[in-house]
Amino acid sequence: MPFTQKHLLGLEGLPAEEILYVLDTARSFVEISERDIKKVPTLRGKTVINLFYENSTRTRTSFEIAAKRLSADTINISASTSSAQKGETLADTARNLDAMRPDAIVIRHPSSGAPALLASAVSSAVINAGDGAHEHPTQALLDLFTIREKKGRIEGLEIAIVGDILHSRVARSNLHGLRALGAKVRLVGPPTLLPADAESFGATLFHDLRKGVAGADVIMMLRIQRERQGAHFFPTIEEYSRLFGLGPEAVALAKPDVIILHPGPMNRGVEISSEVADGPYSLILDQVTNGVAIRMALLYLLAARGRSDGEERGA
Ligand code: CP
Repeated sequence: MPFTQKHLLGLEGLPAEEILYVLDTARSFVEISERDIKKVPTLRGKTVINLFYENSTRTRTSFEIAAKRLSADTINISASTSSAQKGETLADTARNLDAMRPDAIVIRHPSSGAPALLASAVSSAVINAGDGAHEHPTQALLDLFTIREKKGRIEGLEIAIVGDILHSRVARSNLHGLRALGAKVRLVGPPTLLPADAESFGATLFHDLRKGVAGADVIMMLRIQRERQGAHFFPTIEEYSRLFGLGPEAVALAKPDVIILHPGPMNRGVEISSEVADGPYSLILDQVTNGVAIRMALLYLLAARGRSDGEERGA
């Protein structure tokens, strides 16, 4: 099945065939980044705007690199240097950017639903680069890609997602994607950091790290999202780290060929030890490399299609 979406706002409801189509398309783009001259003319004449209302290292850089490797023109806008600082609403910003006829807008925003609002106001494709605690679909796609590259499949794998699930858009997008592709997902963390509806995703809950990672094929560690926590969800960072920080002893309980993922940025010594983060099971930097291929694939699938001027917005 080809990719039928006009936007990528989340992985919720995205059919498995379309997820796999993105992963297969990304596979075909990997080789471009391994060349001496890392550029193809695929998106020549197209314009991509990166609109970031939150900080980012990996996502923003890899979207910019992906667009440039496809020969698109890219513009980066940060909230701190935009007219958002003067009180302009997101809807007005969207209309003004759309008037310059971009082909894709990549948005990161602290509010859940901001990419959907943008998509309803513009004729370009919109890609969600992370909205509040809602979704981070391109991160989940690169995680799925990384798992499939290493394991050869996703269906039937035991995948432990560990940490601050409640505030994690990465976890939510991964839950949707992993479920669609038939993985067995475990959510591991203190009860206060697991969402009330976690079991409705078909996941198994664990409040003990050692039990949660025992026999796992993949361990996906999450950062404690202190910027999204309005209350105290655990007594101290030291206690959290003692109970849920991933060290070599816990890794030894997983399958012998376990892989360790982390979306970054990492809090070394809090949710993951340096020994594990830099150790032989870690694919954390492979995730970053694969992020470029996934974002090239998405820009190719969405920006190449052309704007929907004259059609109903957001359709
Ligand atoms: N994984 C991720 O979204 O990282 P950045 O915040 O650096 O983009």
